Amino acid sequence: MSDPLKFERAGDDDRINLAVGQPSPDLIPTEMLQTAAANAFNKAPEHAFNYGDPQGELAYRAALALFLQGQGQTTVCAESLFLTGGSSQALDFICERFTQPGDVVLVEDSTYFLALQIFKDRGLNIVGLSCDANGIELPALTAAIETHKPRLLYTIASFANPTGLCLAEDRRAEIARLSSDHDFIVAADEAYQLLHFEKPAPKSFSHFLNDGNILCLGTFSKILAPGLRVGWLEVSEGLMPRLLASGWVNSGGAINQMASFIVTDCLQQGAQAAHLLTLRRTLAARAAVMQSALEASLPEFASWTVPAGGYFFWLRLTDPSNTDNLVASASRAGVGFQPGNFSSANAQHPNYLRLSFAAYDSAEIETGIRRLRAVLSAR
Ligand SMILES: Cc1ncc(COP(=O)(O)O)c(C=O)c1O
Repeated sequence: MSDPLKFERAGDDDRINLAVGQPSPDLIPTEMLQTAAANAFNKAPEHAFNYGDPQGELAYRAALALFLQGQGQTTVCAESLFLTGGSSQALDFICERFTQPGDVVLVEDSTYFLALQIFKDRGLNIVGLSCDANGIELPALTAAIETHKPRLLYTIASFANPTGLCLAEDRRAEIARLSSDHDFIVAADEAYQLLHFEKPAPKSFSHFLNDGNILCLGTFSKILAPGLRVGWLEVSEGLMPRLLASGWVNSGGAINQMASFIVTDCLQQGAQAAHLLTLRRTLAARAAVMQSALEASLPEFASWTVPAGGYFFWLRLTDPSNTDNLVASASRAGVGFQPGNFSSANAQHPNYLRLSFAAYDSAEIETGIRRLRAVLSAR
């Protein structure tokens, strides 16, 4: 099997590597970030370069709360926010604070492949939940709660990686209620929550914060720049003390103090909100190009649902081929994709593949899909 942990970056070789879920260089607003860095460090360099409030500077949390309120997450406040080093760090931190090795974590099957790795690192037993077009199927969830007594449920509820699908709002409410009734934690990874093309995603888990044991994970990786390593957790009052009691957070102070100053300036100037509009437009256009290219090239080989936001198409091959076995020939043909089983807790998706439309421009996407067609027809 190809290696899910091998680091791949678009542009590092000649392939059009549609496996990569990162923004293309033109989607990273470097001038805006340079201006924000200059502003931030001119204003308060002694704070930016010193230890910071373990929860994150109040200025960061206040600017973030205002931004999220502007995006419809009307109940967010600075007191409920906690600065993180992005969603991956936040997820590992949640495991550290709330789980023990041997505990069960429930995940959507399929899910973010590196979240699976984080859970393995923490010694958790991963149980996949079946999903339909509206996300986690509640009968499967209630059965899994009964059987496995989970400590944690991990969901990518909006424009998910890899499926592009959204969890229905009524199911979000029910999951919040179940977490309270059965005493487990919900880690709602909202990396793509704000990246709709037309219609906004269903309500963020932020709205259900006080109905259950919810932690919402947000990140600037997908909406600003992954290299910043800045994100946030939004948690209810009852859970915040558990985060703030961490020895290493108290010892080191705010996680990623310096980069949070750059982000704060982007938020305060309205630059992040403006960039989000550009990003949505560009991603929507690229998704439309990928959809047309797929329709032109692959209808006899695969089926898929057109995503309404996020970064990914999730294709199901019509025959039972294992897509892991196609990675090498695709590479030789100058194209990359992510095999379906990377994203599955129990190797349930051998005949699926994930394609990202975020890392390349429209012309490259078209070329990539043509190359993929050649690979599939040459099998
Ligand atoms: C669902 C999901 N969560 C988290 C991440 C990583 O986020 P971060 O860069 O904030 O660690 C990704 C990146 O692909 C993702 O798709």
